[in-house]
Amino acid sequence: DHGPLADRFGRVATDLRISITDKCNLRCTYCMPAEGMAWLPKTSLMATDEIVRLTRIAAQEFGVKELRLTGGEPLIRPDLEDIVAAVTEALPEFPVSMTTNGIGLAQRARGLVAAGLTRVNVSLDTLCAETYEKLARRNKLSEALDGVAAAQDAGLAPVKLNAVLMRGVNDREAPDLLRWALDHQCSLRFIEQMPLDADHGWTRTNMVTAAEIREQLSEHFDLSPDETPRNGAPAEKMLVRERGGTDVLGTVGIIASVTEPFCADCTRTRITAEARVRSCLFSHHETDLMQLLRSDATDQDIAQRWRAAMWVKPRAHGMDHAGLDSEDYVQPDRSMSAIGG
Ligand code: GTP
Ligand code: 5AD
Ligand code: SF4
Repeated sequence: DHGPLADRFGRVATDLRISITDKCNLRCTYCMPAEGMAWLPKTSLMATDEIVRLTRIAAQEFGVKELRLTGGEPLIRPDLEDIVAAVTEALPEFPVSMTTNGIGLAQRARGLVAAGLTRVNVSLDTLCAETYEKLARRNKLSEALDGVAAAQDAGLAPVKLNAVLMRGVNDREAPDLLRWALDHQCSLRFIEQMPLDADHGWTRTNMVTAAEIREQLSEHFDLSPDETPRNGAPAEKMLVRERGGTDVLGTVGIIASVTEPFCADCTRTRITAEARVRSCLFSHHETDLMQLLRSDATDQDIAQRWRAAMWVKPRAHGMDHAGLDSEDYVQPDRSMSAIGG
C-alpha cells in the first residue's frame, strides 16, 4: 500500500490543509454564530509534534507539496511560530502557508517569517469599519489592515486577500476592494458564500454569485481571462485593466464554489484540529487519526488509514444541482470554522 492520496474518481491530493484550532476571535456571520461555538478541549487539539508528523507523512508517503495552516484562526495558537519552525526543520524548503483573519498578525509577521512561513492569505471583506463590525461582529478592521501591511513588510508579499460578499451588507463593495488591493499590491479573490455557516442562514437567492461579482467589477474595470494554468486552484483568475486601458494592473480571482464548482480538479486533503481526515469541505464523514497518533501506530498505519479516507472522497458537493434546497446537498454538521476553510 504505497503511493499518492488518490480517490475513486482519479483525483490526487497534493495540497494539505491542517486546521490547528477551531477557535476564532471574530464571529463572521457567514461562519459562526454570535455566541461562538463549543470549543474543543485543548487536549483534543494536535500538538506540534503531531502536526509535524502528519505533514512529514504527507510529504514523504504521498508527495504532498505544501502545507496550509488554517483554523478557526491559526493566530489564536500561541505556539504557531513553534509549529511553523518545527515543520520547517523537519522538512526544509517545504512551503508552509497560512489562511488568517490578520488580527494580531502585525505583531507576529516577522517572527513567523523567521520560523519559515512562506505565504499568507488574509480575509478582508470590507474597507469600512462599520461594515466590518457588522460582518465580523468585532470592531477590528484596522488590526486586520495592519496585519496585511506587516505581512508585506516582513517579506510575505504578494499577500492574497479573501472577500466574501454578503447581501445587503458589503455586496456593493467589490470594485472598492479591488481598487484597494491593486493599490496595495495584494492579490484579491472573491469567494461565493457557501452554506457552511453555523446559523444555517445561507440561501441560494440571497448569495452573491460569481456572475454578479464579474458584472459589478466590469462597470469599473476591464476583465479578461488569465491564461496561466489553474492547476486545481479554486480561484478563476482574471487580468484587470482600467476601462479602455492597455496596462495590466493586476489580477482578481473568483472562487465560485457554488455556481461554477471545481470539485473535479480538487487537489486537497484536510485534517481537522483534532486530527481527523476530511476528504472534502462538504464531507459527512471524518476519519480519526488521533487515536493512531497517540498509540504506538507506525507511519505506515497512519498513511494507510489516511489513504482509505481519501479513496472514498465524494465526487462533488452537489450544491450546483437543480435546487440547492433539494436533497442533493446536505449541509455538513460542522461550520467552516471547525473545518478550516
Ligand atoms: P492558495 O491559492 O494556494 O493560496 O489557496 P486557497 O485559495 O485554497 O487558500 P484559502 O485558504 O485562502 O482558501 C480560500 C477559500 O477557497 C477557502 O476558504 C474556501 O472558501 C475555498 N476553497 C478552498 N478549498 C476548497 C475546496 O476544496 N472546495 C471548495 N468548494 N472551496 C474551497
Ligand atoms: N462561505 C465562503 N467562504 C467562507 N469563509 C468562511 N466561511 C465561509 C462561507 N460560508 C472564508 C473566510 C476565509 C476563508 C478561510 O474562508 O472568509 O477567507
Ligand atoms: Fe473566524 Fe474565519 Fe470564521 Fe470569520 S470566517 S469567524 S475569521 S474562522
